[in-house]
Amino acid sequence: MTETTMRRPDWQCKIVLIGDAGVGKTCILRRYTENAFSPSFVATIGIDFKMKMAEIGEHLIKLQIWDTAGQEKFRSITTAYYRGAKGICIVYDITDTKSFERVNMWVKNIRMWAGDETECMILGNKCDQEDLRQVTKRDGENIAREYNMSFMETSAKNDINVDEAFHHILEKIVEKNKDKLRPPIRKPEYEEIKLNEPSLEPPATAKKCC
Ligand code: GTP
Repeated sequence: MTETTMRRPDWQCKIVLIGDAGVGKTCILRRYTENAFSPSFVATIGIDFKMKMAEIGEHLIKLQIWDTAGQEKFRSITTAYYRGAKGICIVYDITDTKSFERVNMWVKNIRMWAGDETECMILGNKCDQEDLRQVTKRDGENIAREYNMSFMETSAKNDINVDEAFHHILEKIVEKNKDKLRPPIRKPEYEEIKLNEPSLEPPATAKKCC
């Protein structure tokens, strides 16, 4: 067992991934929690979640990440999960303009269903597919600025910025919720006791054998 799994977390927090169907939410979650990627597309039915321990500075956070279905028919189920979320990531696909244009609709949903204090981030996924790009990085940065949200381009496939994105949003969440966190448990400080190295030389008093 590693030190991280043995330690008691200082806090629990919920992050929700939202965005159109097929933009890569499940893949982002799998990359972050299992460091795995699958090229096949299996649409999420309703909602799913995974847990992960994350270290932010001295704090150990137990993260619950909810992966919502992008399909319209699941919308009434998925919006129920926005409540209580400390962070929400809106994901779009940089090779699909429609998914980017619908970021506005996802922001409206957040305003309607999530708490005011929820930290939000926009992720432009599939940035490994430069040749198929339809949305510029500048457009992504601009919309994030407009809504006062953080922004990153990611690739679940090539493992680009996935850890970084979660780390970034978690840092912001921790900063916002400092007062709710248990102080981190520090390692007990033991006095260092120096043991004398056993000497190969016979002690001065010992008689040497002829
Ligand atoms: P719903 O569950 O329907 O909402 O879809 P989703 O947003 O969870 O999409 P999912 O993660 O299932 O990915 C959809 C498709 O995009 C799959 O075929 C993935 O392999 C592919 N995909 C996901 N992320 C990437 C990426 O970073 N790069 C590339 N090239 N393909 C990706």
